[in-house]
Amino acid sequence: MKNKVFGVVLAGGSGTRMGGTRPKQFQLIADRPILIRTLETFLRVPELQQVLLVTPAAWTEHSCKLIEQYLGPQSRIQLVEGGMDRSGSLMQAIFALDAAGVLDEDTILVTHDAVRPFVTVEMIEAGIALAKTGTPAMTVIPATDTIICSQDGKRIDQVPDRATMYQMQTPQTFGALMFRRCYEQLTAEERGTVTDASGVFLRTGIAVGMVPGDKTNIKITWPEDLIIAEQFCR
Ligand code: CTP
Repeated sequence: MKNKVFGVVLAGGSGTRMGGTRPKQFQLIADRPILIRTLETFLRVPELQQVLLVTPAAWTEHSCKLIEQYLGPQSRIQLVEGGMDRSGSLMQAIFALDAAGVLDEDTILVTHDAVRPFVTVEMIEAGIALAKTGTPAMTVIPATDTIICSQDGKRIDQVPDRATMYQMQTPQTFGALMFRRCYEQLTAEERGTVTDASGVFLRTGIAVGMVPGDKTNIKITWPEDLIIAEQFCR
């Protein structure tokens, strides 16, 4: 059966580390809002039937206006109200698809942080290709810095071999129902500690694959990241 593939652009966060008068996904890089830049790339992927944009409830109307202003009328974008945390926002998107009656075992979601505006069509398509084989696909890059582990934040417990270390990015692409089943198995405490889909799959014993990301696919988190992002746009 042919897969139904949906984009899920996660823009439901509050951006406390960035600060400012509006959440960072609505801030501008080279005169365009960050989430608009991200949506533009998703709209260039023909295989995506629809792109769900998950935003805080208070920002839905503003998001609609931005889409109209920068992208014009868009029947492929659907707005969804976000959840308490990132996984909660993703679950809200899954509920919306379920309510629309489009969820089945062949439904694939390309989930992505709205605040990674330098995602490419190639990254999105690489994730879809792996997810179609049944393996959840995580976008990663090899670690540049040596990563150390410390339980107490004072002493180093372990220095893992850097050659085996990677940094997680998004997109993360996988079967919608597979994710929902795994997420529903987690306890409330486990849900509080997993920060992304790979953690949800691994805790429930599902093998997770990797596809190549890029150093430029940064997550805009701190004010300094806006300066770097402006440079990328020059
Ligand atoms: N996100 C979301 N719903 C939430 C929390 C986060 O959709 N309840 C999204 C953010 O909008 C962002 C991505 O997940 O695109 C990564 O979030 P992150 O930057 O880690 O969190 P923020 O809440 O946006 O920022 P901060 O942690 O600094 O408050």
